Amino acid sequence: MDTSVGKPLGRVDGRLKVTGGAKYSAEMPEEGVVHAVIVGSTIATGSIVSVDVKAAKAQPGVLAVLTPDDAPKLAADPVKKQSPTDMVVHALQSRKVQYQNQPVALVVADTLERATYAAALVKVKYRAGKPKVDVKAEQPRAYKPKQINGKPADMDQGKASTDKAAATVDATYVTPYEHHNPMEPHATLALWEGETLTVYDTTQGVFGTRARLAALFGIPPESVRVVCKFVGGGFGSKGSPWSHVVLAALAAKAVKKPVKLVLRREQMFSQVGFRPETQQRLQLQAREDGKLLLVKHDTVSCTSEFDEFVEPSGKSTRMLYASDRITTSHRLVRLSVGTPTFMRAPGEASGTFALESALDELAVKLKMDPVALRLKNHADKDPETGHPWSSKSLKECYRVAGDRFGWAKRDPTPGSMKDGRTLLGWGMATATYPTLRSKASAKATLLPDGTARVLAGSHDLGTGTYTVMTQVAADALGLVPAKVKFDLGDTRMPETPVSGGSQTAASVGSAVKKASLALRDKAIALAVADPGAPLHGVPAAQVTVENGVLVSGGKREDFAALLKRKGLASLDAEASAEAGPEKDQYAMHAFGTHFVEVRVDPDLGEVRVSRCVGAFGVGTVLNAKTARSQLLGGIVMGIGMALMEETYLDPRSARFMTQDLADYHVPVNPDVPDIDIIFVPESDPHVNELGAKGIGEIGITGVTAAIANAIHHATGRRIRSLPLTLDKVLATS
Ligand code: MOS
Repeated sequence: MDTSVGKPLGRVDGRLKVTGGAKYSAEMPEEGVVHAVIVGSTIATGSIVSVDVKAAKAQPGVLAVLTPDDAPKLAADPVKKQSPTDMVVHALQSRKVQYQNQPVALVVADTLERATYAAALVKVKYRAGKPKVDVKAEQPRAYKPKQINGKPADMDQGKASTDKAAATVDATYVTPYEHHNPMEPHATLALWEGETLTVYDTTQGVFGTRARLAALFGIPPESVRVVCKFVGGGFGSKGSPWSHVVLAALAAKAVKKPVKLVLRREQMFSQVGFRPETQQRLQLQAREDGKLLLVKHDTVSCTSEFDEFVEPSGKSTRMLYASDRITTSHRLVRLSVGTPTFMRAPGEASGTFALESALDELAVKLKMDPVALRLKNHADKDPETGHPWSSKSLKECYRVAGDRFGWAKRDPTPGSMKDGRTLLGWGMATATYPTLRSKASAKATLLPDGTARVLAGSHDLGTGTYTVMTQVAADALGLVPAKVKFDLGDTRMPETPVSGGSQTAASVGSAVKKASLALRDKAIALAVADPGAPLHGVPAAQVTVENGVLVSGGKREDFAALLKRKGLASLDAEASAEAGPEKDQYAMHAFGTHFVEVRVDPDLGEVRVSRCVGAFGVGTVLNAKTARSQLLGGIVMGIGMALMEETYLDPRSARFMTQDLADYHVPVNPDVPDIDIIFVPESDPHVNELGAKGIGEIGITGVTAAIANAIHHATGRRIRSLPLTLDKVLATS
């Protein structure tokens, strides 16, 4: 029988999505839904003196106006530390204001229009303080965070070399505030039945949301159900429950009706996290032959006044290249802004801009080819832990992507390659992302008609989880994908981790495979056990399952017949999967490379990316089509991060001035060239049951530097701050 894993199976939920049949969280059909609208603060720091709700309350249809004075009190929040969101600040629990557009009141009405209008009538008096807005100005007060992703904030590996440095780089790279901007806005629909809370929430983590709500409302987790069938993009901003989730549940309790709360686009620029600005100083020293003697990466980013989030930009620097000495540090400054959060390869995307740009600068100084410089410093084992790699195909990635791109024809002299008056630039960079997994569970059930139903309480952020899990289960059960129905997105299903850190396929897929294999074994055991049954007495190991039929030699019985003969309405198995001892024996990362061509208008400074070739070693490719789409999406986001994305923070008010997609530019089709994705065959027996590495985030890593390096090649201009806009291309200083 043909297996399904690896095939470019179209999305099993594709038809539902294109016909509008897919129900997103805000569309769940609950009876009698009313609408909540958040009133946001108009100061960044200070306190609320009074909230005048009279006019709002007098409006027709208004059911409640909650303020810090009368909002129901939340329980102490024991999980606060695990999440970048302090609900005392965010959810009407205090009169303190700590960022612009912080929720200061919540209006609930029978229609969205009435709630929106009444919200405009709420009058808040403030005592305003002076906001802190500038990462650079606050730098003298920077402090060392306790940890970054569970690791020390600072690291110093290896020994200072006594060799003489032939070339050095010492430069500061800057990445701006960026906002995730998924197409689907954050949305929560909350309802109480007695002491039981149900929330339909667009989230990357139904179980995390459940834990948080249970703690905040002082009820057991079993009394909270979180449902999320489809997510219209998350990119990290839906990785933890923000204020609106808690406010919707508070409001539903107050008005005793189902409450829907959907954020407006402008609120998504202030209430649900962002990538913080980073200032990254990168120092490199190398011998004449290119060998790195020192890599020093010191990064400063911002957090809020009340929570701690670190953009861990030095993370990949610790493991990407071999060097006599590698030293990295992370510092934080507190600003009067909301709390930053995970965004599209947090740390790796911002950090590789600095590291991969600096390596290009070093290559120029050494008059060395950028690929040769990277090969010279290839890390044969993990510089951070000293462990061997579970697998690594980076050299092969450079080779195949370089060949496909035609890199050998590159004239390294800046400005030397032209097409008419257009300057051509060719640049490259390395991509990397850790291979993560967390404990996950799944349940597989055979039904009387011979089909299977497989459940795991996970999420599909548009990544293809529904499809890939269907394939994994189908192969393990010996069924065609059409006979498997995989479902997700409900805390009543087996528990799975947050869909972040590119870990869903590896974590949930391993559990789905284990549960499906356990079910298959159970069916086989039943098939061979009974006297008189077609496969009676056949050793279990000699039975295979092909397209739903248990087969051994000429003997056969299909799943449906087996269940009927046994009088079973169903047959099921559950399993959990988690990392074994390999995680402490091997360093696990996906690697890849980007080669890009830019075309620069020498008079206008306009940059167009005209070609992209990426090669990646990511272990088993579970679905050739959705995997390619994941990498395409990552690279497109990289183009956005390189050329367009930036949120402006008003230096007087500490308000994010960029508040819609007219001002916050993301790439559209004419901005994106044909992108060539190559999967380098890679087999990894150590990472997980599937041999698959996460691919949600690696695509974006390195893209910004590859484009910046290409612009340097085209123009001779080195731009060290994102985005790489035409004013910077043309700047004369
Ligand atoms: Mo991702 S930024 O880990 O959701």
